Amino acid sequence: MNPIKVGLLGIGTVGGGTFQVLQRNQAEIRGRAGRGIEIAMVADLDVDRARSIVGDACTVVADARQVIANPEIDIVVELIGGYGVARSLVLEAIAAGKHVVTANKALLAVHGSEIFAAARAKGVMVAFEAAVAGGIPIIKALREGLTANRIEWIAGIINGTTNFILSEMRSKGLDFGTVLKEAQRLGYAEADPTFDIEGVDAAHKVTIMSAIAFGIPVQFDQAHVEGITALQATDIQYAQQLGYRIKLLGIARRRDNGIELRVHPTLIPANRLIANVEGAMNAVLVQADAVGTTLYYGKGAGAEPTASAVIADLVDITRLASADPDHRVPHLAFQPDAMNNTPILPMDQVQTSFYLRLRVADQAGVLSRITTILAEHQISIDAVLQRESAEGESQTDLIILTHDTQEGRMNKALAQMQALPTVLAPIVKLRKEELA
Ligand code: HSE
Repeated sequence: MNPIKVGLLGIGTVGGGTFQVLQRNQAEIRGRAGRGIEIAMVADLDVDRARSIVGDACTVVADARQVIANPEIDIVVELIGGYGVARSLVLEAIAAGKHVVTANKALLAVHGSEIFAAARAKGVMVAFEAAVAGGIPIIKALREGLTANRIEWIAGIINGTTNFILSEMRSKGLDFGTVLKEAQRLGYAEADPTFDIEGVDAAHKVTIMSAIAFGIPVQFDQAHVEGITALQATDIQYAQQLGYRIKLLGIARRRDNGIELRVHPTLIPANRLIANVEGAMNAVLVQADAVGTTLYYGKGAGAEPTASAVIADLVDITRLASADPDHRVPHLAFQPDAMNNTPILPMDQVQTSFYLRLRVADQAGVLSRITTILAEHQISIDAVLQRESAEGESQTDLIILTHDTQEGRMNKALAQMQALPTVLAPIVKLRKEELA
């Protein structure tokens, strides 16, 4: 059988890795796919650089639309990124009857519904394993491996840049700004790291996972997104003293009245496996009713780890290209008529426990007034830590860990506490998850 023909749109880090791994492992990949997979055409604005990667192995053009228009190309791999031109090209490729592979989490989290609907109408596949957690086959696991289960929640370290920064802040006691500069110098963080450090990249990824886990549409605009830029080294150290690590988690959790979809720095018990995922590594923890807890760990970025996911999609498409479209794996795990509109809960209704740090006057009755406010809002305290005041100081840090409560209730209590004349600085509020 002739090889299936692939056109790459963009040949940067991931495209180059895809080309190399496909070449290196071509015999094994052919053996698994049932036919060869050949990159026949590459489009990249930097034609010379593209040619230096692929040599004479395939045609190189500057215009992506030449790839889409080529009737010999069966699969278009979009590696451009972003919401703009990538969206147009993916929709054009679908309209031209091509299957699509994309690593573009932003595109799918924001425009996924439109793209999957267009693909269904045209009877083509859109595969996106590389869009979430790079080389970790988490899409395959959620969509197929766990298909027997009712998934209860997902909690993932799904951004390597921020995990690297948090690991360095904890192990070296450094502040965010210093570590970010170091991460940029070492190439772990991009020159413009906004999407990573503000939690947007993680929110794109957890949005995609929530759709697959719960059969809901992708709806990035409903996600609560909070990054790590305001996180202070002091809180990482206090959390450590209390037996916790702080990680940027993407959380999707089923509740009776809706779904929580949120990204924020989170205290997690230091003895959980996921708390020990350090540096730029990724990990996703999934709680499901039949299998229980499963944990997926690996590299979330990089040329060959991401290529591993792109090629897995190419193999899947190659195997299923001749299948009746109705018998393929649905894009978002559920058949289109079995999707549901369970609402994403507003943050006020999210249930979690909290870490609070209050800078307070060190005088009689302060602790009692604060605990009274918490009690009046039915918020139960789990632990309290108060440092001795430094010599000559009349103020100190008071750290409180709570049991689970509603975010809205906590915010009301916080407003009252903040108004106390003995609370001397803005209260730090972080969320805590036991992940049990
Ligand atoms: N910038 C991402 C990260 C990798 O730091 O994990 C691509 O999603």
